[in-house]
Formats: sequence, structure tokens, C-alpha cells
Amino acid sequence: MAFVSGVTPYIIAVFSVVIVCFWIQSLREKKAKESKGATDSSSKVRRWVDQDLQDDTEILPQHDEFDLPHVPYAPPRYPVDVMLERSQDFYTLMDQRRSVRFISPEPVPREVIDNVIRTAGTSPSGAHTEPWTFVVVSDPHTKHKIRTIVEDEEEVNYRQRMGEKWVKDLARIRTTWVKEYLDVAPYLVLVFKQTYGIASGGKRKTHYYNEISVSVACGILLAALQNVGLVTVTSTPLNCGPRLRALLQRPANEKLLMLLPVGYPSASATVPDLKRKPLGDIAVAI
Ligand SMILES: Cc1cc2nc3c(=O)[nH]c(=O)nc-3n(C[C@H](O)[C@H](O)[C@H](O)COP(=O)(O)O)c2cc1C
Repeated sequence: MAFVSGVTPYIIAVFSVVIVCFWIQSLREKKAKESKGATDSSSKVRRWVDQDLQDDTEILPQHDEFDLPHVPYAPPRYPVDVMLERSQDFYTLMDQRRSVRFISPEPVPREVIDNVIRTAGTSPSGAHTEPWTFVVVSDPHTKHKIRTIVEDEEEVNYRQRMGEKWVKDLARIRTTWVKEYLDVAPYLVLVFKQTYGIASGGKRKTHYYNEISVSVACGILLAALQNVGLVTVTSTPLNCGPRLRALLQRPANEKLLMLLPVGYPSASATVPDLKRKPLGDIAVAI
């Protein structure tokens, strides 16, 4: 008994030391967890990635860019009067561009389409990632399957998904969910944005500002079509992306941005009599 009461203070001391050690250890672990959390959340703020545009990517060092040689660049330079004339001519050409929903089945040389797409591919792109894929469909069965998918979804869009205002706004330009041009046009060009690339080794490669880059390329494509006298209607088939991507067997990193039926206008084509804003309404001089 005397022995037990003699060692009790030692037992209490040892227990106290063990408890203090556990407490210090748990404090250390807590701190380590907190600082790891801070690193994680700061790594979530990804540089050069606009979250809203769903650039679903991770940053990888792209060393090859450091080795890129720079070469002299001297594009043609025009006298001022020629510049004026060219700017006026190009404006006149582009001012004639209209969205045409009545397209002729008349064949168009494939080489012209290839050149138009080559031209679109000259577009600038974030860090020269060229995040676009242009799928050119001329096979009648595939065109018809595309039409079926688009009309299926568009009917639901018009009848259920979109509000009254949307339907009213579209009524002005007389569009409906029936898209005959998807069967008739000799080509359907489906433009996909690549939300990320695949680097060698299979890792994801950042496609900076891919949606803006592909939109710029589409603008150039529209200008190139206008330049050769072909027409299209810029269409963004709502909710059709996944089904069309599956039909055309495009990979998961590609998202449908636009669908452009391409051909000559049909002989009886009409367009809404829209007016464009004058320069004073679209440009601000400071
Ligand atoms: C991003 C975008 C999406 C469009 N989506 C459609 C569409 O789904 N269906 C359609 O018939 N027209 C569509 N249009 C065409 C517009 O209705 C057309 O550009 C507008 O009425 C002006 O006419 P214009 O192109 O003849 O100048 C779209 C245009 C843009 C720029």
C-alpha cells in the first residue's frame, strides 16, 4: 500500500507527459492540415483560366515555346488611297452578308470548303493552341440524323424550355424548329471548341480562352464564305451538343459551338429586312 501511494505521483507525472505529448502532436497535425488546405485553395486559383468559360484544364509548363525561333515579318503595305479603297470594298462585301435559311442543294466544290476552313484556321488563338475542330458533313444519312437531333431538341426548346419572350423575338425572323436546310445544304460544318488539349504523355494541356478563340475563327470562316459567294446561317443548336458529339464520334474535350449549313442561296431565298446600327452607335471615339 505504501509502495502504491509512493509511485502514484510518478504515474501521474508520466500520464501528464504522455497527454501533453499527444496534445502537442495533435496541434502540429492540425497546423499542417490548415497550411495544406491553404496551398490547395491557392492552387485552385488557376492563372490564365477564366472559370466562366469552362477552360477545364491544368497548367503544364510548355518548354518547347522557349525554343521557338522568331522570323522577320513584312506583310504588304498599301498606299493610303489603296487602303481606303480596300477598306470600303471589304466593308461593302461584308455588309452583303446575311444569315440565309433557304439553301440550294446545288453542289459546291469540296476544295472551296477546304480553303474556307484553312482560312478559319489562320485565326489567332490563346497561346496559339488552335483549339478548334471543323467537322464537315456531306453524307446525306448523317445530315438527316443531325436534322432529326436538332429538330427534336429545338421543338422542346420552343414549346417548353424557353420563355415566351424568346419565342416572340425569334418570330420576327421567322425561325421555327423545322430546319429543312440541314438536309438540303450540300455541307454542314459543325464547329467544336476543344476545352483542353492532350499533351504527349496523355496529360491535359491548357487551351487558354478556347471559346473566344473558336468564336474568332468562326468570324473569319463567315467572312471567307462571303468572299466566295456562299451562304450560311450561324446556328447554335441549344442542348444538342452531347447527342451531336456522340453521333460524330468527337472526343470528350470537344464541345459543339456552332452548326453552319453551307451552300448557295436557293433561288427563292428571302431574309428579314434588318437594319444595322450606324458607326456612331457602335464606335466610341476618345
Ligand atoms: C451566336 C449566334 C447564334 C445564332 N443562332 C441562331 C440560330 O440558332 N438559328 C438561327 O436561325 N439563327 C441564328 N443566328 C443568326 C441571327 O439570327 C442573325 O445573325 C441575326 O438575326 C442578324 O441577321 P444577319 O446575320 O442576316 O445579319 C445566330 C447568330 C449568332 C451570332
